Amino acid sequence: MTKNKTPDQLRSARWFAPDDLRAFGHRSRAMQMGYAPEEWRDRPVIAIINTWSDAQPCHMHFKSRVDDVKRGVLMAGGFPMELPALSLSESLLKPTTMLYRNMLAMDAEELLRGHPVDGVVLMGGCDKTTPALLLGATSMNLPAIYLPAGPMLRGNWKGRTLGSGSDAWKYWDERRAGKISDKDWVDMEAGIARSYGTCMTMGTASTMTAIAESIGMTLPGASSIPAADANHIRMSSEAGRRIVEMVWEDLTPQKIQTRQAFENAITVAMAMGCSTNAIIHLIAQARRAGQDISLDDFETASRKVPVIANVRPSGDRYLMEDFFYAGGLPGLMSRIKDHLHLGCMTASGKTLGENIADAEVYNDDVIRDVANPIYKEGALAVLKGNLAPDGCVIKPSACDPRFLKHTGPALVFDDYPSMKKAVDDPDLDVTADHVLILRNAGPQGGPGMPEWGMLPIPTKLVKQGVRDMVRLSDARMSGTSYGACILHVSPESFIGGPLSLVRNGDRITIDVAARTINLDVPEAELAKRRAAWRAPERRFERGYGWMFSRHIKQANEGCDFDFLETGFGKPVGEPSI
Ligand code: FES
Ligand code: MG
Repeated sequence: MTKNKTPDQLRSARWFAPDDLRAFGHRSRAMQMGYAPEEWRDRPVIAIINTWSDAQPCHMHFKSRVDDVKRGVLMAGGFPMELPALSLSESLLKPTTMLYRNMLAMDAEELLRGHPVDGVVLMGGCDKTTPALLLGATSMNLPAIYLPAGPMLRGNWKGRTLGSGSDAWKYWDERRAGKISDKDWVDMEAGIARSYGTCMTMGTASTMTAIAESIGMTLPGASSIPAADANHIRMSSEAGRRIVEMVWEDLTPQKIQTRQAFENAITVAMAMGCSTNAIIHLIAQARRAGQDISLDDFETASRKVPVIANVRPSGDRYLMEDFFYAGGLPGLMSRIKDHLHLGCMTASGKTLGENIADAEVYNDDVIRDVANPIYKEGALAVLKGNLAPDGCVIKPSACDPRFLKHTGPALVFDDYPSMKKAVDDPDLDVTADHVLILRNAGPQGGPGMPEWGMLPIPTKLVKQGVRDMVRLSDARMSGTSYGACILHVSPESFIGGPLSLVRNGDRITIDVAARTINLDVPEAELAKRRAAWRAPERRFERGYGWMFSRHIKQANEGCDFDFLETGFGKPVGEPSI
């Protein structure tokens, strides 16, 4: 370790070192908690931002795992300070955690700004917690290391493996088709989530923690370790030890999160068969880091990086536990070395190339060779056209190939409740060729861009055996979802994007190979409809939602608040007294 700082240069010394009245207060209150001056003096104070709560099943183990982090911090000569933050439970929070991602980002940034801390361990994992914590830490730019919660164990039902989300959707269709009994359904509820940890499919959680690792913000291999594995405990204490060194080295996010690091993250996301949500979060994070990453960067990577992680829903069988046993993310990265910038610095203090120099793959079916991918192009494709001038996203690796080129009539719903009611109607006028549309489900319209994008197949068609059809919305979808779902249509319909002009029966053409999506209606007719369009009533007139609706950016720009982006106004700086 190279020491680039002396103890008196520590940020926390501003609170604890001076011989003045305010510092007297800080010291006496630390002593009130039972800490002797020897325990903090001249030592890096390490914030541990913990997203544990009783409402957060994925982070249940963080309540005690934080003690392992503290053990590491103490061993390395630091002083740990746990700071609880919003836990953002994907499974319990309504209407959607995406409404609150930026709130946790602000929470993290301000916790760091206001407290006497020199570096931070970020404890997250459940979907939005990863980008949120990283957004905050990026803006604050203190040395930071990300500690992913780790995936939960495989689900089990009657000896069959169950995957988070993916199997819930799959068996729900079977239940609607009358093929699953009440008893089996309850047994599945008890078997699909068997341990603490994040969803163990390649959903948003696994995608985002892998992205955190490939950017260089975690210890090598950290993102693949199952939550219930003792390796996870040891990784946690190592993160505690390492962050203390990072403070002395002054290894900040800015030194790690270069443009090349973000390119690595995009490459890895593609090879993983990532969640569509990755796009929004990565764009937001890159913009905070001052890097200009756009949908085009995903499109470029998508054309050259194959999907090699055979993990559901893009893959056909395996889950994150299998992925870990097969060599985990370092194994996967060793297979796509040629596409990575190996010189990027990481939280370990070594380059990405050094981190994965000895990485191996132990199961060629779980982590495929690039010559034998599960999908030859990248996981995501960005489509543009008169329906989505600023782009929309599809995950071709998780949809029925016959929909990759498709023309069909629109069946439009203006809100989720009316869509939900209609799909159960046995007389609904719909065929498997229809394009189901849900609008007013974007960042402003949802509000918060909920994961409604995998619209249910109408029950009438499910009974006929239909399991996929083209669905189009300005919503997101869960990373564990699958099907011919076109998402994130930008600009969204709620603010008058072209999706707001579609009428039942209009023909829509999708061509994934050409990356286009178009509404086959003459421009003169569209102009007429545009002139007649009236903006819906705003969703919020007070509170957090009021602020949200005035400052949220569109999906193609990462859905950050405009005032949180780097370059919005003068930098905030340190608290003055
Ligand atoms: Fe927490 Fe899926 S619900 S990761
Ligand atoms: Mg999810």
